[in-house]
Amino acid sequence: MKIINVVGARPNFMKMAAIMRAMRPYRKINPLLVHTGQHYDANMSDTFFKDLELPKPDIHLEVGSGTHAVQTARVMERFEKVLFDEKPDLVLVVGDVNSTLACALAAGKLHIKVAHVEAGLRSFDRRMPEEINRVLTDQMSDFLFTTCEDANRNLAKEGIAREKVFLVGDVMIDTLLYYMKRDSLSGADEAEYAVVTLHRPSNVDDKDTFERISRALNKIARSIPIIFPVHPRTRRQIRRFGFEKYYNGNIKLLDPLGYLDFIKLYPKAKMVLTDSGGIQEETTVLDIPCLTIRENTERPITITHGTNILVGTDERKIVEEATKILRGERKRRKTLKYWDGRAAERIVKVLAEESRCLMRS
Ligand code: UD1
Repeated sequence: MKIINVVGARPNFMKMAAIMRAMRPYRKINPLLVHTGQHYDANMSDTFFKDLELPKPDIHLEVGSGTHAVQTARVMERFEKVLFDEKPDLVLVVGDVNSTLACALAAGKLHIKVAHVEAGLRSFDRRMPEEINRVLTDQMSDFLFTTCEDANRNLAKEGIAREKVFLVGDVMIDTLLYYMKRDSLSGADEAEYAVVTLHRPSNVDDKDTFERISRALNKIARSIPIIFPVHPRTRRQIRRFGFEKYYNGNIKLLDPLGYLDFIKLYPKAKMVLTDSGGIQEETTVLDIPCLTIRENTERPITITHGTNILVGTDERKIVEEATKILRGERKRRKTLKYWDGRAAERIVKVLAEESRCLMRS
């Protein structure tokens, strides 16, 4: 069974690492890795291949940056050629980036089966490009692998047949637990700093919003040092708006970190302030308080069962919630079904069992 595994942007790499590792023992699975090149800087892509022991991509589409339509169209055009040449039995996509939707759409139109890992997550906010990618990728998919029950409910409401949906858990957590254990990283007892990540256009492209967030971070840094690895888009916006003045003294700006360097920050983090999706899940599993600088989340389970609090972009609210954590008022996580490090194994088992009907005669 020939499976094309697709990666494109930073948050895809950790998910695919777990899946490719789980595929290795199966002799009947022939996996190919395609990198669309949506992320191309060494520290947004190459470092992750090294850290996560991902094989070198078999095919690289080198699409680079562009508007949403340009980037999506470029991936579709180049990926369709790969599909003609390779004739896979299945295309497997992860997450919600533009490459995810582009490849699912190209495959679906050629009647090639699609598996979507991390299906069913919904923020119900269509102004978020990822939300459009999620809804449409799920509509194109034949196998929908979900991380939690609410994802299954969302898919049912959108009319997706139950037999296509498999609750397997979270592959991003597979990778996190694998490396935390391997590198003996544990314990949040020596809390020393807060970690910040920010990259959503809704937070960093609008000057007023970004200024409110920057002021809040500046205030929090008076009480605790902040470590802030900066996404290229965010770095550009700090310069453009002249916000360097907020990022001084107790705030350490770093270039984007590789996977292992980033997770090494966790054990001593008192809290994380972020607009990332994956980090909301990682902090929940590690029981580290997380303040999500967004108005909504597609991962509500990290609020109901985890350490996550939505703080929006209001300066006062961000500072207030951070202050509570510094005072020791914090949430604790509950156990999450299947967030146990074995989600990728479950996915590959399902695909292997279905291989007879997947393979063309
Ligand atoms: C993408 C994903 C987002 C994910 C994020 C993680 C979509 C719609 N968004 O957002 O869901 O959370 O990745 O980082 O797919 N750039 C570089 N070097 C790179 C990549 C990007 O400098 O290697 C700059 C470019 O100027 C580009 C901008 O960052 O225009 C944005 O990159 P893009 O891939 O369009 O989206 P992200 O904001 O990274």
